[in-house]
Amino acid sequence: MLIELTVNGEVRVATVNGAESLLNVLRNELRLPGSKNACEQGECGSCSVVLDGELVCSCLVMAADCGGAEVVTVEGLAEDEWLHPVQAAMVEAGGVQCGFCTPGFVVAAAHLLEHNPTPSREEIEEGLSGNICRCTGYGAILRALESVTGGGS
Ligand code: FES
Ligand code: FES
Repeated sequence: MLIELTVNGEVRVATVNGAESLLNVLRNELRLPGSKNACEQGECGSCSVVLDGELVCSCLVMAADCGGAEVVTVEGLAEDEWLHPVQAAMVEAGGVQCGFCTPGFVVAAAHLLEHNPTPSREEIEEGLSGNICRCTGYGAILRALESVTGGGS
């Protein structure tokens, strides 16, 4: 079936097969490979996107249900040549190692800050609790977020 959805502010049309996930359609059909496929079970958050204002694991969303939806992926966060503040902070704080988890963390963190610009350390940890990193030990990622918000108390 064909669906029309808005991705990163642009109307896109995609061919969806059966129970194919939104993640597959974003990566393979719409050529947006930023969202990563690590577990495909909703466990790791590497596929995080914002769907109609909600943070979701795109591997768990059926693309066939996304007709008319608005999706924001990691590719939609930078403005022109300017990184999103979360992206810049992750680079600065050394929160990126292999980078596989990074798009999901960035999308989750940007979504958190949109709703709570000055989160506490606990709120940051809660906001990122759906995202798993095998490399960094989380310290640098949390420091990156705190550097954006000036928070951490
Ligand atoms: S790939 Fe979707 S949660 Fe892991
Ligand atoms: S930087 Fe490698 S999994 Fe997070």
